[in-house]
Amino acid sequence: MEVIIRPTAGRAARLAARLVAGALRAKPALVLGLATGRTMEQVYAELVALHQQTGLDFSQCATFNLDEYIGLPADHPWSYHEYMRRLLFSRVNLSPARTRLLDGLAEDVAAECARYERLIREAGGIDLQLLGLGSDGHIGFNEPLSALRSRTRPKALTPATLAQNAALCGGDPDRMPRRALTMGVGTILEARRCLVLVIGASKADILARAVEGPLTAMVTASALQLHPHCQVIVDEAAAVQLQGQDYYRWIFANEPEWAPYRQDPAA
Ligand code: GLP
Repeated sequence: MEVIIRPTAGRAARLAARLVAGALRAKPALVLGLATGRTMEQVYAELVALHQQTGLDFSQCATFNLDEYIGLPADHPWSYHEYMRRLLFSRVNLSPARTRLLDGLAEDVAAECARYERLIREAGGIDLQLLGLGSDGHIGFNEPLSALRSRTRPKALTPATLAQNAALCGGDPDRMPRRALTMGVGTILEARRCLVLVIGASKADILARAVEGPLTAMVTASALQLHPHCQVIVDEAAAVQLQGQDYYRWIFANEPEWAPYRQDPAA
């Protein structure tokens, strides 16, 4: 795992977007795993800007979203289908046939989850999985005590998650869906590369537990410590509780792989 600290939320999000863009340029048929939440809004805005300004080409890219609320139709304003359509899919040249999300209205939930796992396999697996961090340490909707080898399945959401996500769902946690379909921790760990973006002081404690704390199903993001290629991009506000800050800063300032990004004033 690598942790990279950037001075502001905007620069952290821009660096994450540039890493995605670099992967897409290197492999135009990239299989890209997508996340939602407020953190990702800036990443998608930056990818749209790169598409418009530099011609970043999504035409051969395939996408798989991490999760979707159970019980919401795809065109519901709170659904992740709608979030993705609004922030990315309608604004870049992704082929609709290659953008996949779980169906929150599926009658046979087990069959839907099995279908999704099969589609990921048939696509050759996920090359790069974007991830945010829930306030309870979740990745996707893998709430505390999710098995660290879990596969795509339904999960009941914790009160912390309902409170955290209420802002994107009309503001009232009591009116939100209580369950979601999510890729499992095991599904996520099979992505060839994971890119996590964490911003803001409210995530400082859970970030430190996820990256420097013990591996535990109580903080499912801690399972990323097992991943052979996981990069965690954070802003200063989120980084304040990290024990290894000096080392992480040295990595970004000195390691050759980060040279192109050190010279990029936006990132
Ligand atoms: C939701 C998503 C997660 C995401 C999290 C972070 O719970 N299921 O994939 O990481 O939100 O949300 P935010 O970026 O709004 O803090």
